[in-house]
Order: sequence, then structure tokens, then C-alpha cells
Amino acid sequence: MKSSPMNTNDAASMTQTQHITQVDTKFLPEKEIPTDGVLREDYEKLRITYELQRDIGAEIEIDSVLNRILDRTFEFLKFDQGIILLVNKKGKLKARAHRNITKGKKIFLSTTLIKHVIHKREGVISSDILTDDRFNTAESIIFSGIRSTIVAPILQGNEFLGVIVIESSKKVGAFTEKDLLLIMNIARHTAQFIKNSLLHEELRISFDSAIRTLSATVDAKHTLTAGHSERVAELSVRIAKELGLNGYRLETLRYAALLHDIGKIGISDEILLKNGPFNDSEREEMNSHPTKTKAILEKFHFPKMLRNVPAISALHHERIDGTGYPKGLTDSDLPLEAKILSVADVFDALTSLRDYPKHDETGKSLECDTMSVSQAVAILEKGTGSQFDATVVGALKKCLASPEIQGQNK
Ligand SMILES: [Fe+2]
Ligand SMILES: [Fe+2]
Repeated sequence: MKSSPMNTNDAASMTQTQHITQVDTKFLPEKEIPTDGVLREDYEKLRITYELQRDIGAEIEIDSVLNRILDRTFEFLKFDQGIILLVNKKGKLKARAHRNITKGKKIFLSTTLIKHVIHKREGVISSDILTDDRFNTAESIIFSGIRSTIVAPILQGNEFLGVIVIESSKKVGAFTEKDLLLIMNIARHTAQFIKNSLLHEELRISFDSAIRTLSATVDAKHTLTAGHSERVAELSVRIAKELGLNGYRLETLRYAALLHDIGKIGISDEILLKNGPFNDSEREEMNSHPTKTKAILEKFHFPKMLRNVPAISALHHERIDGTGYPKGLTDSDLPLEAKILSVADVFDALTSLRDYPKHDETGKSLECDTMSVSQAVAILEKGTGSQFDATVVGALKKCLASPEIQGQNK
């Protein structure tokens, strides 16, 4: 048998408890703990494990959870190398976090040991690999320098999700049965976290695809508006990031932008697709689409963090001078997200095929002309202080300096 560097390993094992005394095998009632030293050591291990379990519950990002597990485990187990491997989508075990106290040194793993853990669905400990019958022919294990190890499966029910491996190169009996119990407990919490985060990710993808489908339905009503909402969402997010927005505010804006024109499904095709100037009643109906957007989105169940999506969406035709619609709100009443959405919406309408046919002041159709970026920016600058917020237009101009946007809107 042999071992090899990370991801190409092997070896053998099972539960091996040599050099372990009764005191080491379990956490005893306080009165039975023989010395203050053992009491303090046990307390410290349990304290750190408790804090780690609490922290795992508060985390949302899997890699940061795995790194935290190794960092905090090192506080109570002086291991030389630790690694956490998770099963990926292809069913292969891949390293997701590792620690090695000797920088640059390769981490050795026992594939045979890991296979045993997978097969038996149980954690194993070997307190001295060199005197363990199952390892004594493994020459390369000797060369790897590993002496003690703990391997704990990460299990959800009987489903194998991954494994936590802790190894000591220097010390015989570096780990105890109590340590195995603690690592198994951490592995159980890790399994719950992984399951929750996978479920959360699936729900997020499902929610996202539903929103995108909804968004595409209104754009699909006219060939000229294809992709409008996606582009407005993308540009809104870029402007928002330029202005320092992040987290749920950014997500709220992205969904609000994707759905801002959804109210147009409540506008008759006769008006929506009209190739000519609107009369007063037609204009009135057309201008009702932000209100319809809000009414539609308020029936949608958004997660609590995204509850402002309907309100933001409904403000995309407001102007900071109060002459916009439907409410005629002014600068201080408009949230930054609405000001961003307004700029991104107009910029896309100007630089893409028109979102609906436009006409000049004489009523002459401008068909589907697009404008250059510089023409569009000139219009936005002209509207700064009346229709648009100066900071937002400034942020847009910074975004336009990036090659990505320049390439999209030549
Ligand atoms: Fe609109
Ligand atoms: Fe729009």
C-alpha cells in the first residue's frame, strides 16, 4: 500500500486505538475527570467545537465554512496537515480546503483509509500508522511522515458528501477517541450546512430562471425590445457597483430592472406596437405601465430581502424634477436604485433598437434607429439635473469607459 500527494493517494486502515487510555476515549462527568489539566483541556475542546458549530450556522458561503473548520480545529488539535474533500457534481472527491503547517509541503492522503470510511460510513482514527498492521507495508506512508490520523465522513443520512482528514506527522497518539468524536460532530454540522446551501442554491437558480422567463415575455412582444430588460439589468448592476452598492440592494435592483416593464403585458398590443404618435388617451394608457408593473409584482412572493423590487420597478419613469410618472416624485423621494434604473433604461432605449417606435417632434417616424454611445451620453447629460441624477450619469460614464460596454455599443 502506498500514499501519495493530494488527490492521487492511497493506503489502508480502520479504527485503531492503540496508545489511548480510558480517559481519552470519552468526555467523562466532571467528578470523574482525574486532573485539572484534563478538565481544562476537555473544556477548551468543547468550547471551540461549540463556537464552530454556532459559526457554521451563521455562514452562507461554503468555502469560508470549510476554511473556518480547519482554522478552529487547529486551535484544539495540533495537527500538521488537514484537508476537507467534498464530492463534486461529477461524483469525484475534490479538495476544497486544506492547511499545512509546513508551507509548500504536499499533503498526503490515504485512499484506502478514505475508501474504508466511504464504505463503512464511519469515522476512523489511527494513533500510530507505523505500528498499525494495516499500514506496515505502506512504504510511501513511511516516507510521507504521517504518524497519526483522523478521517471523518461528512454524511447526510447515508449519503456521502465528503470527508475531513486530520493528520500528524510527528507524534504517535497525537489524537484521541475524544478528538474523533468532536471531528465527527463537526462533520455532522458540515453535512447539514452543505445540504442547506445546495438547497438554497437550487431555489435561487429556480427563482432566477422564473424571473428571467417572466422578464423575457414582455420583451418578446416586439422584436425591437428583445433583450431590453436583461441589458437594463446588466447595466444597472454595473452602475450600482460603481456607486458602491452590494448585497441585497444590488440583487433588488437587478430583479427590479429585469421586471421593470412587466406592466406592458397589461397594455393593448394596438398601443404597445403602434407605429405612430400616441394620442392623449393612448399616451395615458402607455404611461400606466409602471403602475401595472407594481400591481403585478406585488402579487409575486419575493423573499424578504427582495421586498422592495415592486416599488423600485414602478419608479423607472420618474424624474428628479418631479415631472415624471406615475407619481411625479422628486429627487429626495427617489431611492438611488430607481435613479440608476431610470438612467440604464433610457441609455438602452437610445443605444439599442428602440424599445418602441419613436417619432420626432413633427410626428415623423424614426423607425428603429440606434444612437451611438456619445449621442446617448449627450442626451443623458442634457437631462442631468432635471430627468437624471448627476452622480448616476457620472457612474454610467465611468462604466462606459470599460472595454466590455464599449464593445456592446459601438
Ligand atoms: Fe418602462
Ligand atoms: Fe424599459
